[in-house]
Amino acid sequence: MAESNTDTKSSNQMWGGRFASGPDAIMEEINASIGFDKKLFAQDIRGSIAHATMLAHQGIISSDDKDKIVHGLNTILSEIESGNFEFSRQLEDIHMNVEARLATLIGPAAGRLHTARSRNDQVALDFRLWVKEELQKTEQMLTGLIAAFLDRAEEHAESVMPGFTHLQTAQPVTFGHHCMAYVEMFGRDRSRVRHAIEHLDESPIGAAALAGTGYPIDRHMTAKALGFREPTRNSIDTVSDRDFAIEFLSIAAITGMHLSRLAEEIVIWSTPQFGFVRLSDAFSTGSSIMPQKKNPDAAELVRAKTGRINGSLVALLTIMKGLPLAYSKDMQEDKEQVFDAAESLELAIAAMTGMVRDMTVNTARMKAAAGSGYSTATDLADWLVREAGLPFRDAHHVTGRAVALAESKGCDLAELPLSDLQAIHSAITDKVYDVLTVEASVASRKSFGGTAPSEVRKQIAFWRARN
Ligand code: ARG
Repeated sequence: MAESNTDTKSSNQMWGGRFASGPDAIMEEINASIGFDKKLFAQDIRGSIAHATMLAHQGIISSDDKDKIVHGLNTILSEIESGNFEFSRQLEDIHMNVEARLATLIGPAAGRLHTARSRNDQVALDFRLWVKEELQKTEQMLTGLIAAFLDRAEEHAESVMPGFTHLQTAQPVTFGHHCMAYVEMFGRDRSRVRHAIEHLDESPIGAAALAGTGYPIDRHMTAKALGFREPTRNSIDTVSDRDFAIEFLSIAAITGMHLSRLAEEIVIWSTPQFGFVRLSDAFSTGSSIMPQKKNPDAAELVRAKTGRINGSLVALLTIMKGLPLAYSKDMQEDKEQVFDAAESLELAIAAMTGMVRDMTVNTARMKAAAGSGYSTATDLADWLVREAGLPFRDAHHVTGRAVALAESKGCDLAELPLSDLQAIHSAITDKVYDVLTVEASVASRKSFGGTAPSEVRKQIAFWRARN
């Protein structure tokens, strides 16, 4: 930390008019946001160009000054992009760093840019533009993840695996069907993203400090120039609203929760005990001491990133909770949460997309596991209802006795001799063996949304058309 010093510094060149001395070093350190909000430089410059253009169009500044301002801003853009810009902490944030540099470049005309605006609407604009672009990127990345799952689902529409409840073998399903469950989840995430883009698609610039402005500005013009649907309607709300950031974080948290469930399944499936999938070398690591190991580190890290994203959501909700209208400096703490969550989310989606595309599916292991654990017991009960006319509850009981018998003999249901089954219920015939295979079980579940390969193919076609 820099040493404390109050009186040797000159007052802030942007707002220091009424101050006799500069800020204490600690004040400067707690106040400055340039360390992280420099990420908003492109949005800040775009916003300023749109604002200056509108000011000139409305006759609020001269078109000469506007030209100088626009030219200067474009110079600053290339300076920053090429790494030839010196950011200053004394200038607090990205807005004042850009404006101060503009003054150096073009002189007094730079002072006209901040007419009819405040940093309050400026930061709301820059951050909204940033979050909007991030949401658009997220939408595309989710589409890529969905496409990866659709391809795997198509390939494995008939591959049988055990379906689980309580992580206990429940009924056979297809791997394609399981993949399509994730398509539904990430499809919902993507539609949440699309809604969030719609919600935030209003331009804040022109709300000024909080009350609007007396200059004859045209907010519809700036909204249009910046690609927003329309301007925001209430200037107080505009500068105190961070819902768009919180919505991004909640979508990130829900998507992260989905990604972490997938990550957990991949961790389980890739154990030697399950052996359902093998991760590609590209998405696993070895152990420094145990040569036989192949660890699903990427999946584990995705599972962990979720915790970080949830933390960001809770942090920003807590920052905003109880703040009086309109702007308060607390709101400066919004950006790091969103930047960090966005980086984690992008990495997590990219890693999972790679893993899903690359992993080798061991269909033989899945099928063997699908048949164990009496997974076709429900099929036996259903057969008794359908073919022998038993009420389902009685059929359930009869089947339970068959399972207990198989268990005591150490065999599968399909391996029980007919005489054993008939001793449990006389209506059972050798036709029952047709439903005791996992393939027959899966093929019979043709209800809408069910696991039969024919149904899974319909689900795939629906999502392919929806992309
Ligand atoms: N750096 C500030 C932020 O991120 C910009 C807005 C400052 N506004 C003000 N009235 N001090 O929130």
